[in-house]
Amino acid sequence: MSKIEINSNTAPFPKPIVLVGSEVKGRPNFITVAWFNRLNGLPNIWGIALGKNKYTIEGIRENGSFSINIPSTDLIEKTDYCGLHSGREIDKSALFDVFYGKLANTPMIRESPVNAECTVYEYVELPKTLLILGEVKHVYTEERFMTDGVLDPAKIDPIIFTRPGDNYRALGEILGDAWSIGRE
Ligand SMILES: Cc1cc2nc3c(=O)[nH]c(=O)nc-3n(C[C@H](O)[C@H](O)[C@H](O)COP(=O)(O)O)c2cc1C
Repeated sequence: MSKIEINSNTAPFPKPIVLVGSEVKGRPNFITVAWFNRLNGLPNIWGIALGKNKYTIEGIRENGSFSINIPSTDLIEKTDYCGLHSGREIDKSALFDVFYGKLANTPMIRESPVNAECTVYEYVELPKTLLILGEVKHVYTEERFMTDGVLDPAKIDPIIFTRPGDNYRALGEILGDAWSIGRE
């Protein structure tokens, strides 16, 4: 079978979308982020890649912290809206029921099934983006998103961003168990 070389910018990247919260100049602000990942366990370090002009960066630098909020599919319009408008031009603080946990100046979204408070672990300068590594300090959810005491991905119902095409999709079906099906 012969392979065709494609533009690396169009390589497929299905990613769960997150809303990153920060307080910029005393006001809660939320940015839609696809380039998010878990990078280390114990300490749990999660990374977000932000364009260097993002207003959110001002708040993260100011407070040394940010939140990661995983929206469910019913928040699709508001999630897209946060990705269309900068906090520099509009006030995004009233879009959600904002709450605070244990870290100061780190706003979170009550409607999101999962919320995490992170402190900045390191900034990594890349040519076009600032990779912000955050150490996860506290994670919050509600009983209704859990099954047998742990988070249930189906109940969280995350929004999956796919490229190329730039679409939002829902989580698919379970195909098998990880670290298990390969044993057969
Ligand atoms: C689906 C989607 C995914 C996005 N992913 C990112 C991302 O990973 N990093 C980033 O810097 N901007 C991303 N953006 C763009 C920002 O959300 C957008 O520029 C936002 O208005 C910036 O907000 P702020 O200036 O208030 O920080 C994304 C937008 C959408 C719609």
